[in-house]
Amino acid sequence: MTDVYDVTTVIGRDEVLAGRLYRTRTAGSFEYDSGYLRRRDAFALAPALALFPGAQPLLPANPFSDSAPDTWGRKVQNRAAGRRLDELTLMLGVNDEGRQGATRFWTDGVAVTAGDGVPVEAELADIIHVADQIERGETAIDDVAVRRLFRATGSLGGARPKANVRIGAHLWLAKFPKPVGDDWNVIAWEAAMLDAMATVGIDTPAHTSKRVIVDGSERTVLFLRRFDRTEDDVRVPYISAMTALEAVDGDGGDWVDLVDFARLAGADSAELWRRAVFGALVGNLDDHLRNHGFLRRGPAWKLAPAFDVNPEPLDDGHAHQLALFGTGELELASFTTKDALGLFGVKPAGADAYIRRLRPVMATLPAAAAAHGADAFSVSVMSSRVESALAAIS
Ligand SMILES: Nc1ncnc2c1ncn2[C@@H]1O[C@H](COP(=O)(O)OP(=O)(O)OP(=O)(O)O)[C@@H](O)[C@H]1O
Ligand SMILES: [Mg+2]
Repeated sequence: MTDVYDVTTVIGRDEVLAGRLYRTRTAGSFEYDSGYLRRRDAFALAPALALFPGAQPLLPANPFSDSAPDTWGRKVQNRAAGRRLDELTLMLGVNDEGRQGATRFWTDGVAVTAGDGVPVEAELADIIHVADQIERGETAIDDVAVRRLFRATGSLGGARPKANVRIGAHLWLAKFPKPVGDDWNVIAWEAAMLDAMATVGIDTPAHTSKRVIVDGSERTVLFLRRFDRTEDDVRVPYISAMTALEAVDGDGGDWVDLVDFARLAGADSAELWRRAVFGALVGNLDDHLRNHGFLRRGPAWKLAPAFDVNPEPLDDGHAHQLALFGTGELELASFTTKDALGLFGVKPAGADAYIRRLRPVMATLPAAAAAHGADAFSVSVMSSRVESALAAIS
């Protein structure tokens, strides 16, 4: 039996039919709608789905994987189902309200999967309580609570526990500390990174951190305004750099390819350089392709705001997931060579000016992390990294 789903996206502010997804028990394919193909403003939903008629396969590398859950979302959805689900079931099972980007799936005019909303802030302590239970691998968890968490998790990728939350009229993403496995206050440091990046002019989503009491203990939660929703909640198409480069999880990647795509797509490659330099200084080693993304703006794919930038202690070294010219061992000096500046289209004077702006900001990082709730140990664990950054730019 073949199931058929309408697939829509957003052009401008309008939700439009882009095509149809056909799904059998073991395979899936996508076909653009002829009306969509005739539009002059039609865009490929993913580079792997070029704008031509006829069926295009969705497996083994799903071009819609940004609409599917990642590590954390899979964990919760499999848990709610009580078994391991296949890729397309996971993708279609995501709560429509929180789905990443603008791609939506429909049957008979009803969005798949229409849930009954995402939680509000007041429910967060309960949600984190259940997220903790899942992270700890507990077996006796209330079924209804798991389903609620699953609705909240949506298609947001990443391994860290998280949930969508509606605050007022807007959709936000809440990132939680792990109950086990966080060796320091990772969330406070991530919040400090966002503050610092915003100060030096890197585009960041609106964000705030809050202390939430869960089971009697205080936890730092990071709230990020969803950048794939407009002020009035219109969906904005999103592709991760992984989708943009037609890569799959674990493929690694190189700034060269990312800059190449950005240039062709109409995005700002100098902003990528500023992010790369910031990431090299703070030791943002986990800068894999899913941690960069693009939002559709008119006829271009523009850079999504920076996200998931996390420092690591200096002892962890300089080996980044995203290489530059084939090498993953990256420091500030790697990005200031003539070749690197040429690649990103940054002039030496502009590079110097940016690095000067970074100095005072790097110096305030420990205080910023503390202000977001990092305890003395969490602050000190990053001292050597901060000192090394300061030495590199002094
Ligand atoms: N402000 C935002 N608005 C919309 N989507 C976002 C936002 N921040 C992150 N995302 C999406 O959610 C995904 C997960 O977020 P994030 O990368 O911060 O989580 P993580 O669990 O720390 O990831 P990782 O496994 O890389 O450590 C991102 O890959 C991105 O697609
Ligand atoms: Mg991530």
